[in-house]
Amino acid sequence: MSEKRRILVVDDEPNLCNLFAELFSSHGYDCQIAASGEEAISLLEKFRPQVVLSDICMPGMDGLELTRRVLTASPDTCVVVMTGCADVDMAVQALRLGASDFLLKPFNFKTVLQSAHKAIAKKQLVSEAAEELIQLKHSLQKLLKDNESITSSTIESFCRTLDLRDPGTFAHSQRVSNYCSLLGRKMRVAGKDHCDIRTAALLHDIGKVVVPDRILLKPGPLTEEERMLMEKHVQAGYAILEGILGMEAVAQIILQHHEEYAGGGYPQGLKGEEICIGARIFAVADTYDAITSDRPYRKARSYAVARKEIRKYSGLQFDPKAVEAFLSIPAQEWAQAGRQSEKESVLPQSTVGGISITL
Ligand SMILES: [Fe+2]
Repeated sequence: MSEKRRILVVDDEPNLCNLFAELFSSHGYDCQIAASGEEAISLLEKFRPQVVLSDICMPGMDGLELTRRVLTASPDTCVVVMTGCADVDMAVQALRLGASDFLLKPFNFKTVLQSAHKAIAKKQLVSEAAEELIQLKHSLQKLLKDNESITSSTIESFCRTLDLRDPGTFAHSQRVSNYCSLLGRKMRVAGKDHCDIRTAALLHDIGKVVVPDRILLKPGPLTEEERMLMEKHVQAGYAILEGILGMEAVAQIILQHHEEYAGGGYPQGLKGEEICIGARIFAVADTYDAITSDRPYRKARSYAVARKEIRKYSGLQFDPKAVEAFLSIPAQEWAQAGRQSEKESVLPQSTVGGISITL
């Protein structure tokens, strides 16, 4: 039997709270009420609601502060705020803080129920994606244990899982994998090292499955707090792959894929050759793809622009040797590598655990 849906209603008007409690209980919810933001926070850990439905204007802690504190303490909880027409600006602020929805007073109770259902369905999708990822990791480990090999479809499933949440990620990763291959060959990286860079490029942002949708899909700039959460994706990607036999180097490249040659990157602020060669190659390939691909806010820019930009950051963001190798490869070869990933799977031939496989 599925778990009962839990909702916490927060409002300083007792009559409204009781009305909501009746409404949600009659629709199969486990509903608790709180007369203030402070009371809601004290109930949060024990009750673990999937949805917090809160008024914005309340004495003491207002709905905005409550939204911020709920989402910090429990990022998977959905917050729906309620407001009168006069404080629509506050509702917008709540959405910016990560609230899932806002409802205008006076209420249509059907809308309130729909909003709660929708918030829970969305949360369910995210947790199913996370569960799927855990299952994928287990299947990877089982495949390695039982057969001492992994298959291309399993790696591809990892990539497609993230693509479901952040469309376009797989195509971007495929192109970057091809660019890493080209640059790696130029820098005489061969054998398993070469395959590991390509595999890491395919999986580099897999850790973004832990980043909430409100941040992952946010069109505008991130706040400091959101940026910190987003940056966690490198450690999450490492955690997903570490311990899988044969994937140690791939996990390491993923952990370091946002490090910068002069030391300004994250998560460790490594410098120069403290950063593994795979991550140094990846940094150039990823930037080349970022510049030469369409973005929601601008069109793709030319090879010449990418060349100028990558040269400008040689020794700062990028390893000068990787930049030199990049500059020595003709534009047509880069274009061909980009087109190739549109036509065919770029999953590389590799050796994991000493056994030859097709990734
Ligand atoms: Fe990343």
